[in-house]
Amino acid sequence: MCGIVGYFGKEPVEDILIKKLKLLEYRGYDSAGIAVKNSTSLKVTKAVGEISNLKAKVKPLNSAYLGIGHTRWATHGKPITTNAHPHLSTDKCWAVVHNGIIENYEILREDLIDKGHHFLSHTDTEVIAKLLEQTFANLPGDDSCDKYLTALVNTCNALDGSFALGVINKKADCVLFAKNNSPLYVAVNNGEFMMASDPTCFIGFSQSYFALCDGDFGMMTKSCLTFCDKNLNKIEKTPVELNLVYSGDTNDFNHFMLKEIYDSRRVIDNIIELYSKKETLSGFTKETFKRITNIKIIGCGSSYNAAVIGAKMMQERLGIDCSAYVASEFRYSPPTFGKNTMAIFVSQSGETADVLAALNLAKARGALTVSVVNVEHSALSKSTDLTMPLKAGMEIAVASTKAYVGAVVVLYVLALKFDSLIRKTGFDLQQLSTLKDLLQIEKEPEYQPIARLLSKADKLMMLGRGYDYYTALEACIKIVGTSYTSATPYFAGELKHGPLALVSKGTYVIAFATDNDILTKTLANAEETAARGAKLILCTPIELPKEQASRFVHIIKVNKIDGPLQTVLNIIPWQIIAYYMSLYKGNNPDRPRNLAKSVTVE
Ligand code: AGP
Repeated sequence: MCGIVGYFGKEPVEDILIKKLKLLEYRGYDSAGIAVKNSTSLKVTKAVGEISNLKAKVKPLNSAYLGIGHTRWATHGKPITTNAHPHLSTDKCWAVVHNGIIENYEILREDLIDKGHHFLSHTDTEVIAKLLEQTFANLPGDDSCDKYLTALVNTCNALDGSFALGVINKKADCVLFAKNNSPLYVAVNNGEFMMASDPTCFIGFSQSYFALCDGDFGMMTKSCLTFCDKNLNKIEKTPVELNLVYSGDTNDFNHFMLKEIYDSRRVIDNIIELYSKKETLSGFTKETFKRITNIKIIGCGSSYNAAVIGAKMMQERLGIDCSAYVASEFRYSPPTFGKNTMAIFVSQSGETADVLAALNLAKARGALTVSVVNVEHSALSKSTDLTMPLKAGMEIAVASTKAYVGAVVVLYVLALKFDSLIRKTGFDLQQLSTLKDLLQIEKEPEYQPIARLLSKADKLMMLGRGYDYYTALEACIKIVGTSYTSATPYFAGELKHGPLALVSKGTYVIAFATDNDILTKTLANAEETAARGAKLILCTPIELPKEQASRFVHIIKVNKIDGPLQTVLNIIPWQIIAYYMSLYKGNNPDRPRNLAKSVTVE
């Protein structure tokens, strides 16, 4: 949610900011803006929509050498130019970009209005700019960069909430920054300095970077980079090697979403390669797991949908109590858990605010924490006792596809590992190679007519039992999130207890029936909807008798694999269908309206 960038150096600052904002666009894309400065002026440019709109508007400021930029996902106030960042102080000297939420902004705003400040936007961020002006005016001493930094620290000490901030002042030769509960990184390259919400921005700029911790502040000046804490004590930080591969090209695909669906095979390969090495899971010992009597798996959205599969497979395999939780519920309505719990956090970004808050709770309760995470430099990955990377590579489309596959597969690996430790079973990843060979991504042309059909529907109902219900959960989130068609998953057995009332002539009902043991039950439920006028689509690996098959408008015949990995084979067609539904409805599958890739606010 929101991407921020800052630069102090020798290159044309507007070019750098725009280029880096483009890389951060996945974090929010409703509006964007930059503020740049030369020795006499500060210039702000903002535009609604994507970075390309901002780029078209920017007219370089002569000899500008520092600046800040922002790409927005609106939290407070509509996505209009006035609400786009940077925001200015009343004297128009301070410019601020912000990622996060200031919870006490209303009180601060009222107070600042009483003191004569004028607000132009509906954002929480604007109070920071006004407060900086106010705080700075009350500080004694000469107007040095240190004084500007002091103003930032004192201002932030008055803020409640989360923030990653980039700040400049018309009269100061520095870029200031602060972090609390929103990601922020800084890098140096031979007299140039850069800060960004994602270290990906530093690829091609520096070989290493500094990861800011909550409560860190700092500034970039012409000659140096300084870090300090909230008491203005200087702190030393150790650089981290920048070990990232940029995969921001769609290659021959029209969109990242489709490209990333095709990447799934490589993700499985990467997982096999990593987890086949003995040392990868060396932290997962018998001793570590000895105290564990229950497992809680926590995530949001698609990561939660992977978590439910993980919980079921672990429960079945290990015979201990395993359940999955939506992170926002877990943090406010936690189950009974403690030191005997293994709390597994699933996240593509590793930045999701509710997941991080749930992690803090689990740590406070003494649980053994494990992250199953794609972004290896993320706060989540760095903060758990043990971490298991997804190795999916950069996932750029907002709709998670390959990372979801990666999460299910890594949870499967963890279940195998756990089992091998407690029951001394073998740890054999052979089934993953089989899985990879059975993926049917190339059947894409076969799924397109189904997508075309469903793109005309008002609503879709999806049915399943057990793992099939979990696939329905994920298929629905993909379809809703990319095509904006209402799609709801139901436990097949629950239909008669209410949802059946929704079925009318022409309602599309999609049944997942991939488990032979319960096939007839689910098919019977589907038939009940057909009897009320529903048009049926079936997803199954099982060959139906001709007569029975004729009752379905389409049958998606998936390959068969034993056990929970069937869910991976089942979801691929629906990722592709969601992609094409989005296209047929004229949407951008990579950038669904109202959403963002990284959800750093509650
Ligand atoms: C779905 O396609 C989404 N991208 C979304 O549900 C996502 O899985 C969720 O926001 C959690 O994000 P995370 O995996 O980065 O924590």
